[in-house]
Amino acid sequence: MKIEFIDKKLNDIEADLEIIIVTDKNLEHDLVAKYKDILEDASFSGAQDEVMLLAESKKLFVGAGSLKSADIRPAAATAMRSLIGKKYKSVKIASYLSHKKCTATLRALAEGLVLGNYSFDAYKSKKSDKVKNVYISSQEYNGKEVDAEAAKRAINKGVEVAKCVNMTRDIVNTPPDDFYPKIMASKAKEIAKEENIECKILKKEDIEKESMNALLSVARASTHSPRVIHLSYKPKDAKAVVSLVGKGLTYDSGGLSLKPSDFMVTMKSDKSGASAVLGIIKAVSRLKLPIEVHGFIGAVENMIGGNAYKPDDVLKAKNGKTIEVRNTDAEGRLVLADVLCYAQQEVKADYIIDMATLTGACVVGVGNYTTGVMGNSEKLIEDMLYAANTASGEFAAKLPFNRYLKKTLKSNIADICNISNTRYGGAITAGLFLSEFIEEENQNKWLHLDIAGPAFVEHVWGENPHGASGAGVRMVTRFIEKLAKPKGEH
Ligand code: BES
Ligand code: ZN
Ligand code: ZN
Repeated sequence: MKIEFIDKKLNDIEADLEIIIVTDKNLEHDLVAKYKDILEDASFSGAQDEVMLLAESKKLFVGAGSLKSADIRPAAATAMRSLIGKKYKSVKIASYLSHKKCTATLRALAEGLVLGNYSFDAYKSKKSDKVKNVYISSQEYNGKEVDAEAAKRAINKGVEVAKCVNMTRDIVNTPPDDFYPKIMASKAKEIAKEENIECKILKKEDIEKESMNALLSVARASTHSPRVIHLSYKPKDAKAVVSLVGKGLTYDSGGLSLKPSDFMVTMKSDKSGASAVLGIIKAVSRLKLPIEVHGFIGAVENMIGGNAYKPDDVLKAKNGKTIEVRNTDAEGRLVLADVLCYAQQEVKADYIIDMATLTGACVVGVGNYTTGVMGNSEKLIEDMLYAANTASGEFAAKLPFNRYLKKTLKSNIADICNISNTRYGGAITAGLFLSEFIEEENQNKWLHLDIAGPAFVEHVWGENPHGASGAGVRMVTRFIEKLAKPKGEH
């Protein structure tokens, strides 16, 4: 789908359909008033994300609570989603500005349009019809003046980032028999080629040489050998260095601590952290941000078999720490432990951010839609919460560490256990486990994002479709964008 900003009034633009985002519940707004009676007859109330198609008039109305990005983004997405499978090929829409000169809403509008036009139909015999062209008119919803150049820049950013979110969604949605570690590596190479960035792939023998024994143990029972991937985007005069580390479990059966059948379904999504890392590095490159970004991925399949790693095994991680395995389903932290060590060995970064569908406990704690943010630096946590909740429209909440929860990971025979001795606070104890693999000087540079809730949800929510959402891509891209800006600027 192509989105174009057109410096013309709505009426002077040709399109199959016009989308009108209605922020006035009284339906008396200029663009809406003419249709007030018919909309009321059809019980359209203008509530957030409520849609009404008036085919004869070639208008699609969608409600939004306000002109804020957080309302415009899902409204635009819901409107576009309602057109999937219909014959409309081109649509037009007004510009929306929440306040004078501020183009943030336009970026959100563009993001919503691209995110809403997504469906995963790679495995459907019949592909759905989709809109091909969207024209955003310079006519502003409330008659505000729109600076064409600033508008184009904002729209372009929204489109580029949303396309990367959609790429991440495609990867996560792809079934495990078609997407295993080797394919993750090919995908990384493909992105590296397109974006002209560096890509290094470690195969099993290379991983052995790096003593990443915890990762190798998790991988052992799979017929698909593991990969460790390192992508680097290195612009000239970079203002900071960021390392991203992603959990890439292309399937998580639980291993010998096998998941019950109902919990195993959807575990193709256990590669969401890694897939987000790919989406972010691509977005950062598309936006040409002056920040050096490294993406590290541990791509592994957690299976059962005669040679599977076992509860009771003691593993030695890359940094020499020994880990008593008490549950083979707590495998993500074992993979991340080694990849975090590798990332710190390879790159001296100012920020280290790991992303993982790490714990069911995080979903229990904060719900399906919210990412759990953990770390030792309050400032970093606050910055990430701002990037998520205020700038990107993703949801994130802080989960606080404390020294008493840390003690619950003690082992009698090894340096640490891979699970806690309490049923409570499982997302935090998983985060505390990871902190054992962060070097002392990096403790305040590190953030852990548990995306187990939002990464894959089996229903539509706001700008997100059924299935993979691409969680983390918008949030972390915003976080990195902010690093490139002078202090105080949003
Ligand atoms: N991949 C799962 C976590 C998960 C659960 C992601 C639900 C998305 C939705 C992870 O590897 C896992 O199984 N964690 C265990 C840890 C437990 C054994 C301490 C869990 O959360 O139950
Ligand atoms: Zn697991
Ligand atoms: Zn897992």
